[in-house]
This record gives sequence, C-alpha cells and structure tokens, in this order.
Amino acid sequence: MESTQNLRTDMRRRQAPVAPPCTFVIFGATGDLTRRLLMPALYNLTRDGLLHDDFSVLGIGHRPWDDNQFRGCLDQMMEELHPPHAEGGPSFDAGIWRNLLSRTFYLVGDFEDAATYRALAQRLERPATGGSAVFYLAVSPGYFEPVVSRLSAAGLLEQGGPRWRRIVIEKPFGRDLPSARELNQSILRVADESQIFRIDHFLGKETVQNIMVSRFANSVFESNWNRQYIDHIQITAAESIGVERRSAFYEQTGALRDMVPNHLFQLLAMVAMEPPNSFAADAVRTEKEKLLEAIHAQTPDQALANSVRGQYRAGYVNGRLVRGYREEEGVAPDSHTETYVALKLSIDNWRWAGVPFYLRTGKALARRTTQIVIRFKDAGHMLFRRSASDKPPANTLVLQIQPDEGLFFHFEAKVPGPRIRTRPVSMDFRYADHFQVAPSTGYETLIYDCMTGDATLFQRAADIELAWKAVLPFQDAWADGEGRIYEYEAGSHGPEQAIELLARDGRRWQPLR
Ligand code: BG6
Repeated sequence: MESTQNLRTDMRRRQAPVAPPCTFVIFGATGDLTRRLLMPALYNLTRDGLLHDDFSVLGIGHRPWDDNQFRGCLDQMMEELHPPHAEGGPSFDAGIWRNLLSRTFYLVGDFEDAATYRALAQRLERPATGGSAVFYLAVSPGYFEPVVSRLSAAGLLEQGGPRWRRIVIEKPFGRDLPSARELNQSILRVADESQIFRIDHFLGKETVQNIMVSRFANSVFESNWNRQYIDHIQITAAESIGVERRSAFYEQTGALRDMVPNHLFQLLAMVAMEPPNSFAADAVRTEKEKLLEAIHAQTPDQALANSVRGQYRAGYVNGRLVRGYREEEGVAPDSHTETYVALKLSIDNWRWAGVPFYLRTGKALARRTTQIVIRFKDAGHMLFRRSASDKPPANTLVLQIQPDEGLFFHFEAKVPGPRIRTRPVSMDFRYADHFQVAPSTGYETLIYDCMTGDATLFQRAADIELAWKAVLPFQDAWADGEGRIYEYEAGSHGPEQAIELLARDGRRWQPLR
C-alpha cells in the first residue's frame, strides 16, 4: 500500500510541474534564514517532487568552509528541527535530505570582491541547467545593491535563449520612501524588473493566498464586501515572542517598519483590492498597487491622533517571565523604538469610503495570532432587543491567517425555548479538518514560483514604494520625538491607548485568542 507521503507527493506532482533546472545561489548561506527556512523549504520541495534532478544549491559566504562543513552545519539545523526520535512531529525522510545535501555546494567569497563573481560564473556553467540561476539575497540590506551591481558587472544577469537569471530580495527593502526609491533605481539600472523578485514571506502563507479565493470564488462574500455592509476591518499580527536575539536589527527598525508597509499592507491589499481581471502576475499586482495608492494621506496631526506606539515592559507571556524591551541585550536603556503599533487608516475609493481600517502589530503580546476581522454593520432594525442597550453583536467574519488557520463566521442564533432569546454562535472552517497539509515553512511556494517565473506573489517596485509612501505621514509625525510611546506589560493585549483608539469610534478590538 502506498504511504500517505507518497500519495501526497503524487498529488502535488499532478498539480504542478517540476520546476526547470537551475542553480540556486544563496548569498549569505551561513546565516539563519538559510538554515532555518530556505534549506527546509528546499527539502520540502524535494519531498514533493518539484525540484528537477539537475537542480543544485550553491551557498556563498565569508566563512572559510568547504562543501562538507557547509553540509554539516545544515545537517545540524535539520536535526534540531526534526529530532530523530521526536514523537508526533512531522515525518522526516533522511533519504530525501541526503539527496538534497549531495547537490548542495559551498563557495567562499566576499560579496564585494570581483573574484567571488568570477568563481561564481564558472560554477554556473552547467550544461544541464543552461546556466539558469536564482540569486537569493539572504544578506543584510546593506549588501542588496552591491551584490546586484557586481552580479551585473560580471555579466551574470545576462539572459538569452533558455537561460534565465533571477534575483530574490528579502525585506527590509529600504527603511523609508527615499531609500526604497534609491534602491529600486540602482537595481533597475542593471537588471530588468522581470528579473527582480522582492519577497514578502506572508504571501507564501496558504491562508493569505486563500483570501483571494474566499473573496473571488464565493459570491456570498464578494457581494457584501463594501461600505454598504461592512462597518470596519481590523488587521492584527500579534506575536508572543519578544525581540529575541535581533535587538541590533530591531532597535533600528521598530514595529512599524518591520511589519506594516510589508506584511500588514499585503494583508490589507489582499482583503481590500478590487477583483483583478485575471490571476496573471501583473493583473493582481496592479490591483494591489491601486489599493495602496488609495490609502488616505493623513496630515501630521491626523497621523498622531490615529496612531498609538507602545513598548513592552517586563511581564509574563504564557507563564514565562519576559524582560522589558529596554532591558534586552543591545537595547538602549532609554530606547524610543516601538515594539507595538496600532493605526487607523482609510481608503479613498468608491468601495471603502467611510470604512475605517484598524491595523495593529506587536511583540511580547498575550498570544500569537494573525487575523483579519471583517465586522459587518448592525442589522437595519433590531427586532429582538429587549432594551436600548441590549444589542446583539454584529456579524463578524474572521480570516484566521495563523495559527489555527481557518475562516470563522460569528452570527446570532435563537436559544431554544418558548421565548425569543438570541446568542452569538460561530460557523467554523479549519484547514486541518478538510485538507491534509504537508509541513511547510511558507517559503516553498515562493521559491517554486520564482523558479517557474511566476511573479504574482512578489512585489514590483511600485508596490514597495507606494507602501512606504503610505506610512510616511506616521514616520514624519513621529520624527523629532513627537508622539509618545506608551508602555504595555509583556503578556498583555498592548497599551490601553490602543483600546482607546477604537473606543472613541464606539468600537472594540477583537480579543487576542
Ligand atoms: C518578519 C519580522 O518579517 O516577520 C519579524 O522581521 C516577525 O519581526 C516575522 O517576527 C513574523 O513572521 P511570521 O511568519 O512568524 O508571522
């Protein structure tokens, strides 16, 4: 009898063709991203039979390693992710992993040295791949431009015949509008837009892609998806972890830059854009850009009034004592970096005029949950109320991105009995109940799409710049120390002032659960 895993692999194979052969070059191969996400994602793609027999990985890093040392380091991480005797964890096939490792190589090199690129050019000359390559920039942002320029100077971005060359660029893409513009300009001087794959890993999440399916494959949702029926929308990305070992990065970044113009705006665009003419990459991206362009530009006073910044102090998260942000190693004792942000936005277009969008994200909160809450308007006339204050909660649709992935609809039902009494109930769809989902990192789809040349889930230059433009009023309003940063206890739901942001509009956040 076929194993479940074989069946799954077979299903995937039937659904998607094997990606064309190429060399997958990782700049920054010894870093965390490669070990924790990229290699596990490549393992999963190998497991699902989606990588060509002539696919290979070439890691580039500063450390003076050889192929075996590199493989040893990857092996160690894989063992941590899949301890050999762990019970109940996802099954791990050592044979598949060995197969991938045998095709994984290492090149020592300085990212700013032309010799690295000469050596790379030789390694790419593999007849079986036609020289095609993905250059994955898993490096700190300061290297994005130098690596791309050097790839170009060495002639490594030239395409022709069946040979393609693509660059994947991680976030953060710039730290504000001018820097993102500058980076786009310098990259586009040497590479074509079609070669650039600006990644946002939220788009690799099945639940994020499902937003489009929920909206555009189900007439019941889309017909109510507008200002006539929707009171407001909340988008939450709450994390229970603190800044962990990333304080050097986080101190310079803060919650707004880290999460809003990228991850939260991708969710916003998915939930609020107009239906694209097709699911072709440019059709989808054009609609997302139109939505970002329609975010109302607030004055500095409005931006201050419509935003709340917070920073966590010590507290208990899931019973574990967490140090305050300012006590974290590498954080200034008087740091003004926000670890929480809540914003109220509006969209200047026909569909959403007058519908507020409340966004919030933060670290060291009570729970990890990413969700989009669609709060519908109250029923036109309250037939069943017993007093003026006795108002049933409005219908709510929750798109639960993670964890407990699903879609939940909360509505009122009659409590059985002779009298008319109502109570909120819920209709729940959970992915896990309906689909057998193979373990994934979220990077599989994105890597596969890049190799097959499908840019739908990647951002164009305009997308990135429009997102930075939309957060500019907040960045400007907070410049020069304007606007307070409110403390919140680690393990709480965030600062009180964020509750106030909605309360003054007569609304409430969906509890973090
Ligand atoms: C990253 C941010 O882009 O996304 C992190 O830099 C954040 O600070 C992470 O923790 C959240 O991603 P996920 O997939 O764990 O929700």
